[in-house]
Amino acid sequence: MKKITKICCIGAGYVGGPTMSVIAKQCPEIKVTVVDINKNRIDQWNTANLDELPIYEPGLKEIVGERRGKNLFFSTEVDKAIDEAEMIFISVNTPTKIYGKGKGQAADLKFIELCARNIAKVAKDDKIVVEKSTLPVRTAQTIQNILDNTGNSVKFDILSNPEFLAEGTAIDDLLNADRVLIGGNDTPSGQAAKDALSAVYEHWLPKERILQTNVWSSELSKLVANAFLAQRVSSINTISALCEKTDANIQEISRAIGFDSRIGPKFLNASVGFGGSCFQKDILNLVYIARSYGLNEVADYWEQVIIANDYQKSRFADNIISSLYNTISGKKIIIYGWAFKKDTNDTRESAAIAVADALLEEQAEIIVYDPKVSEERIYADLDYLNTRSPEENRRLLKVAKNPMEATQNAHAIAILTEWDEFKNYDWKTIYNQMLKPAFVFDGRRLLDNDTMESIGFNYYKIGQS
Ligand SMILES: NC(=O)c1ccc[n+]([C@@H]2O[C@H](COP(=O)([O-])OP(=O)(O)OC[C@H]3O[C@@H](n4cnc5c(N)ncnc54)[C@H](O)[C@@H]3O)[C@@H](O)[C@H]2O)c1
Repeated sequence: MKKITKICCIGAGYVGGPTMSVIAKQCPEIKVTVVDINKNRIDQWNTANLDELPIYEPGLKEIVGERRGKNLFFSTEVDKAIDEAEMIFISVNTPTKIYGKGKGQAADLKFIELCARNIAKVAKDDKIVVEKSTLPVRTAQTIQNILDNTGNSVKFDILSNPEFLAEGTAIDDLLNADRVLIGGNDTPSGQAAKDALSAVYEHWLPKERILQTNVWSSELSKLVANAFLAQRVSSINTISALCEKTDANIQEISRAIGFDSRIGPKFLNASVGFGGSCFQKDILNLVYIARSYGLNEVADYWEQVIIANDYQKSRFADNIISSLYNTISGKKIIIYGWAFKKDTNDTRESAAIAVADALLEEQAEIIVYDPKVSEERIYADLDYLNTRSPEENRRLLKVAKNPMEATQNAHAIAILTEWDEFKNYDWKTIYNQMLKPAFVFDGRRLLDNDTMESIGFNYYKIGQS
């Protein structure tokens, strides 16, 4: 089996950055180079001030500080890193297509194809190519075809090694992975490639947790894992709507069903809806694949998970509007939290974007506070929707640096990310400086009913009447 001494990772994003940092930390004898065509992002990874890394994850800056310049490098010299490495991870983005066939559903593989063509062009010796990005089942075949037909007659072994980290807990997830999945061919060189990648992970994970499968199972497992996780969120969220009508309490339901060992207690927290770059994109992709094989009932079943998620977000926004006497024009509404979950600065598909957009349609005056998300990002997220002009977005929505000050003369607060700090705010002072009746709409079930009501708030908690 070939011993890996140099790894290259194409794509320095939320997956490439943390994953490679952890490999560099756990495998000090392996040189790890993370490359990206986005120079700005690479500059940020190389910044002297570790608080300015492009990605916020607890524990990440410490690892980058420890390994950068020793065996962890961030660079825009893509060709050089490909040429040097024995193993190349492809960790580029695979967003939902926004044009042409499969628009709105299929994964856009143009970045993957560019990587494959680049590897083919540059490689002068045998390489192991690892799909780290989440890809439609059978993409490895496409990559193999490109490499074999455009390459310099060197041998490529393709592996699928999907990433299961969750943002916000990425470092812990990587260091203590429940499992690592490695899909590859059953040929002797395919087996050697799988073993070589397994040896990298065996630096810190027990061998029993490193599962080897065929390539197609590995690719499809990732889509299915995300579909199951998202389905659990949508399942509990649909029940939260029913609770609000019936005086049942969603927390009591989650507890009652979670004690059933067949169901289990995790991922049963009702909320304003799931976000993140993966769940929606991967389910849409699953739906697209199922439909392309004529499996319409399968596609319809999974599509419902997304429909339920959209419903949860719009239901939340509608409730704010109707509670504020059906008119929020000119009313000051504070949004606490813009990231799609706590402990990350990632906002992709965040529920906050959809809720803010719905409130802006009603001409509310919004102030957003998020401890980690930049003003620039917030406006970029809204402008991307194209619902109104960028000027109008900036006129109606402001970004606050101070969460307490923002609440002066506000009509309502909506909590859309479960940042811990929101729990510790001085809610009494906030109440005193808001207009009355003062409303709090808790989309993350973060605060205590009795406390909020005794202060005097009109407090709405998702999943409770
Ligand atoms: N974010 C997550 O939590 C997560 C978890 C598991 C799997 N994934 C999957 O991992 C993949 C990457 O996700 P991400 O969140 O890291 O994306 P990202 O957008 O944060 O990062 C992707 C990076 O790839 C770079 N890139 C694109 N084309 C390139 C090219 N040809 N050469 C060099 N660099 C190129 C982009 O500039 C970008 O910096 C996706 O397929 C995603 O579905 C993501």
